[in-house]
Amino acid sequence: MKLLDLRSDTLTRPTRPMLQAMMDAQVGDDVFGEDPSVRHLEERAADMFGKQEALFCASGTMANQIAIQLHTSPGNEVVCEANSHVYLYEGGGIGKNAGCSVRLVTGRQGLMDALGVEMAIRPDDPHFPSTSLVCLEHTSNKGGGTCYPLDTMRQIRQVAQGRGLAMHLDGARVFNAMTATGQGAKGVGELFDTMTFCLSKGLGCPVGSLLLGSGEAMHRARRIRKAMGGGMRQAGYLAAAGTYALDHHMERLAHDHENAKILAEKLLDYPGVAGVWPPETNIVVLVLANGVDESAFLQRLKDAGLWGLRFGPGLVRLVCHLDVSAQDIRAWRA
Ligand SMILES: Cc1ncc(COP(=O)(O)O)c(C=O)c1O
Repeated sequence: MKLLDLRSDTLTRPTRPMLQAMMDAQVGDDVFGEDPSVRHLEERAADMFGKQEALFCASGTMANQIAIQLHTSPGNEVVCEANSHVYLYEGGGIGKNAGCSVRLVTGRQGLMDALGVEMAIRPDDPHFPSTSLVCLEHTSNKGGGTCYPLDTMRQIRQVAQGRGLAMHLDGARVFNAMTATGQGAKGVGELFDTMTFCLSKGLGCPVGSLLLGSGEAMHRARRIRKAMGGGMRQAGYLAAAGTYALDHHMERLAHDHENAKILAEKLLDYPGVAGVWPPETNIVVLVLANGVDESAFLQRLKDAGLWGLRFGPGLVRLVCHLDVSAQDIRAWRA
């Protein structure tokens, strides 16, 4: 029996053609600004989303943390969803790197609305921290790969703009969101001052994320990246994987979404499962029946060929990705 490792879409290994593209890359010292492959990827990423410039970063976490520092000063406050990655999974980076507090909005499946954001923004009163940034996550990981409707993002943008706040998008899986919703890259990009996307998730690269924004913001971002130890030398080998992925791995994201739907259906009646969140993209979340022990369930599922991850009390996550084919998913029998 084949064991399908669905713990995360970050587990993928580069394909042979991707490795070949990496081997063939033209490289230079990127801290000197002399790596043509990094420059090429940065220009392409910026163009795609209608931004002036981009910065190649070691990880999505680093790209988000740089963005937060760009838009804040110590003592400011960041508004984000209660389960957002920037708050929950970046090692307390908002406090540590930016010296900011966080105001959490409880969203629906990880998604906030304009009213929730508006209520979280502090009044201009010296007692309070000064709100300076609103962060969205699209798709929302903890929401189960959910996507913001364009209208909701626009309404949040209006609120933020009206209060003079910057907007940042954690777009680690923004290509999944665009694939599922049909949203265009420029239509998403124009709503945010800065945004990130990850190469190392559904796109199947070993390393790398892009931060996008204005020329002025990316100039400052380059300095912040350096201070965080994120200046990389012959990073073109990694950037070449990114360019390869943008050329060859974008269209196949729809297959991951299709696989997630098939898997969700197969697991509806699986013993111990009380429900499945309907997958919008590549993430399947199982809700365990009352009293079912998560570790024992995960072991039983693994013995049956599916390797998942605990995703919170009574929840298990399975993520479809490049290394798991439609045939693998179709062939799986409980
Ligand atoms: C929504 C979201 N944002 C950011 C990240 C951070 O990416 P990285 O693991 O490259 O730091 C992740 C990683 O899983 C994520 O799911």
